[in-house]
Amino acid sequence: MRKHKILFSALALALLAALPNAASAAGIVANGAVKSFFCTTCHGADGNLTHLSVRLAGQHPASLMQTLNAFKTGQRQTHPMMSIISLGMNDQDRADLAAFYASQRPLGMEKASLFWRLGGMSALTAAVDDVIATSRADPRLAGRLSGACRDKLLDQLCQATGGPCTYTGRDMKSAHSGMNITEAEFGAVAENLIRTLDKFGVPAREKNELVGLVAPMKGDIVGH
Ligand code: HEC
Repeated sequence: MRKHKILFSALALALLAALPNAASAAGIVANGAVKSFFCTTCHGADGNLTHLSVRLAGQHPASLMQTLNAFKTGQRQTHPMMSIISLGMNDQDRADLAAFYASQRPLGMEKASLFWRLGGMSALTAAVDDVIATSRADPRLAGRLSGACRDKLLDQLCQATGGPCTYTGRDMKSAHSGMNITEAEFGAVAENLIRTLDKFGVPAREKNELVGLVAPMKGDIVGH
């Protein structure tokens, strides 16, 4: 058994070491899928196997990366196999594996990122479209929100909630500079967002988490 374990780990380390490592620290789902080959036995092909281990599918990538790092540094020592496997991973491996598992639809919501708890990409898209439609019709905003930012907004929310997206737009401050958005206008959009979430039956926990992600952006959006 011990011998088998050591051989298996050596293979895992060799595989991880042999894979190409991109310079960027952003996780690449396709590379993560390849690197997850050795994880399949215990975690299932999509990270949904739970009778041998813990569900990885749909977890927030930051939380997956943090856990893998904790195994590597010895901060977490709950499973010798995970400790050994994590030794062979560099930052890029962790980011790729995290991106891959985060993108997999979880079959249970217990550790799922906000992205999946909200219902994944289709739910997020429907919510963003609804907020834009309500805001365009909102006299308090009088045509101030054109909807041109829809795709960028979607990308940003998808990434912030732990979904498989990478926001490539400008930072919030430069994106809104020269628009002179008022506090009242920001408040109106926020109110429309909450109304949409209520209309879609989003539970309080998820609603609070999402509002908690959007609210701190106010300083960068208002008054520039
Ligand atoms: C031999 C079986 C085995 C293999 C192979 C394996 N794991 Fe695990 N993994 C486990 C077990 C068991 C746990 C639960 C450990 C615990 O209870 O702390 C775990 C836990 C984890 C966790 C923590 C999950 C959480 O939410 O607490 C992550 C992340 C993880 N594994 C990633 C991977 C990755 C990535 C690979 C492949 C590179 C991999 N594992 C390969 C058995 C395995």
